[in-house]
Amino acid sequence: MTRLILGITGASGAVYGVRLLERCRHLGVHTHLVATPAGLLNVHHELGLDRRSLEALADEAHSPGEIGACIASGSFPAEAMVVAPCTMKTLAAIAHGLGDNLLTRAADVTLKERRRLLLLVRETPFNLAHLRNMTAVTEMGGIVFPPLPAFYHRPTSIAELVDETVERVLQLAGVAEARPREWQGLGRDAGGQGAAAQRPG
Ligand SMILES: Cc1cc2nc3c(=O)[nH]c(=O)nc-3n(C[C@H](O)[C@H](O)[C@H](O)COP(=O)(O)O)c2cc1C
Repeated sequence: MTRLILGITGASGAVYGVRLLERCRHLGVHTHLVATPAGLLNVHHELGLDRRSLEALADEAHSPGEIGACIASGSFPAEAMVVAPCTMKTLAAIAHGLGDNLLTRAADVTLKERRRLLLLVRETPFNLAHLRNMTAVTEMGGIVFPPLPAFYHRPTSIAELVDETVERVLQLAGVAEARPREWQGLGRDAGGQGAAAQRPG
């Protein structure tokens, strides 16, 4: 069984955390959720979901103060951790190894165990502290994954944009059943430009 730890913090983009939980349930991935107080605030503000409805989407839910929970230890076998969305505050705490709540402790454990850690950071524009913290997390083996949508599949709804990011995140987290759309190259109707000339990132 794949086990995924999901952190939800108080950045805009609560929908990414919620869709990740929904997809994990659909795919049979076992989820451990930690949402910060600011995360819960934004889940309610942006999606109208209260704490109980959010936690019902996870297999297990922990509060940030529950520092003795299973996910606080490297001996607990979780394959990966995703923080979606990830604030600059939580990014800073992870970059500096603070472990000041269950979410940042679980992220610290994920890094020390050399497991996949994905941070869906959300802020714009970035200041130097944000950029330095993203560099530090990358140097430690974490993956900074700002949820920036691609438009080359010509999405027609916000839900489609969100789901494309969610599938890519799940794939990077090691969920074999995740199915992000594959780029097939530009067709003959691309105005004479080859696929190599416009290969998406
Ligand atoms: C409506 C709202 C939107 C916010 N959006 C962001 C954001 O996009 N990125 C960010 O870094 N902080 C954002 N914040 C600020 C964080 O919620 C705040 O720094 C908080 O202390 C983060 O705590 P946490 O990381 O423990 O969730 C937002 C706050 C509110 C109230």
